Amino acid sequence: MTKKIGVVVSGRGSNLQSILNHIDAGELPVEVAVVVSDHQEAFALQRAAKYGIPSEVVERKDCKDKAEFEDRIADALLSHGAELVVLAGFMRILSGNFISRFPHRIMNIHPALLPSFTGLHAQGQAVAYGVKVAGCTVHFVDEGTDTGPIILQKVVPVLDDDTEDSLADRILVEEHKALPEAIKLWAEGRLTVEGRKVRVAR
Ligand code: GRF
Repeated sequence: MTKKIGVVVSGRGSNLQSILNHIDAGELPVEVAVVVSDHQEAFALQRAAKYGIPSEVVERKDCKDKAEFEDRIADALLSHGAELVVLAGFMRILSGNFISRFPHRIMNIHPALLPSFTGLHAQGQAVAYGVKVAGCTVHFVDEGTDTGPIILQKVVPVLDDDTEDSLADRILVEEHKALPEAIKLWAEGRLTVEGRKVRVAR
């Protein structure tokens, strides 16, 4: 049976679009069962609607505390049968309560070569530091910020005249390949987490 995933977003949703494109092309054997956004205006919601994918909005301001916010997101994902949670441009840190409901079943895409440049403005941090290569990382989520076991990484050059935006554009091209690739590996049952390491069956 086709595995179901839930995609959690905060904004534009180009990574969601890339997942949908790969599914359409027959390259990614999963179904997006639900899209959950913490912003009503997220453009990602329009992308979901276009595909007839159910979506749910859970705004932090409508919840009495972080626990309720996270419970409502987890409930939305589980009620649609999501077996894997994909954070695709979700701009909040999840706590242990949420993570324990999906053990090793939450993936995040981060626009840097972890463990360098965690948190916000990763691409700007890379430009400011003067690194010569940058990239993106797909990892399982643990309780830290961008610290979980790494599934795969893709590398791009950093050019002398790069700005945060120009580097972000170059990295985004790789993000759009990396996230579907990681989801596919999961769907095929090829990922095993051993401590900090993710073993990929060939
Ligand atoms: C991506 O760069 C992602 O790595 C970061 O936020 C951005 C989201 O882009 N966490 P989009 O919403 O998928 O277009």
